Amino acid sequence: MRSPLTVAHRGYSAIAPENTLAAVEAALRSGAEYVEIDVHSTADGVPVVVHDATVDRTTDGTGEVASLTSGYVTGLDAGAWYSPVYAGQRVPTLDQVLDLLAPSHALLLLEVKGPRTRADVARIVETVMSRGLADRVLLQSFDEQVLHDARELAPELRRALLRDELDPDPVAAAKAVGAVSYNPYIPAVLGRPDVVAELNAAGLGCMVFTVDEPEHWRALTDLGVDAIITNRPAALRGWLSQP
Ligand code: G3P
Ligand code: CA
Repeated sequence: MRSPLTVAHRGYSAIAPENTLAAVEAALRSGAEYVEIDVHSTADGVPVVVHDATVDRTTDGTGEVASLTSGYVTGLDAGAWYSPVYAGQRVPTLDQVLDLLAPSHALLLLEVKGPRTRADVARIVETVMSRGLADRVLLQSFDEQVLHDARELAPELRRALLRDELDPDPVAAAKAVGAVSYNPYIPAVLGRPDVVAELNAAGLGCMVFTVDEPEHWRALTDLGVDAIITNRPAALRGWLSQP
């Protein structure tokens, strides 16, 4: 049985504030093959690493990322909400995460969040391509237009289609946007488990989010998924290494 790859969700978000450099460092130390992050674009077009459309939940600031300047967003504290131990962690730029990741062997699962313009996608793609990291990055999005734009801008940058619920024909949906992988929410897979074999038979990957419990790791490993996206990468790696 093929072993799925481990993807650290929002960095190692079970032990460090999500989408911070501390969480990415912890993910790299965990040995996860992939680190997943979320990217929004600021009003001045800088790709920054934050999950929500606003900074309210995970920083000491307020407002929509898309209407804030990069100077304001990257100056916010993104760690104190999680624990005083992490006070002083900032909202990283995509550039800073790539700086941290580049010397490692880890891959990046880069989720592009909205709202975004084609210019925002172009800036994100350019940030990756200008560093020669195309072969280390898989760009994923729920937004099909993001994937269409990325495909036109840099066809060699691999893409994945995210889904909370399965499309009637997941293979066709992935192929329509030129995705190499179809990445569904775990309840959707458990409701129609044969989708994994369908995708694999069509030459497509399947990376499932967000999966933290061993009973689900077992079910997905038995189905042959390519990767498991988890908040607990060290625990998943330990579980996968058991005989
Ligand atoms: O990697 C997929 C997963 O991160 C999608 O959900 O809300 O955690 O970005 P969310
Ligand atoms: Ca995400």
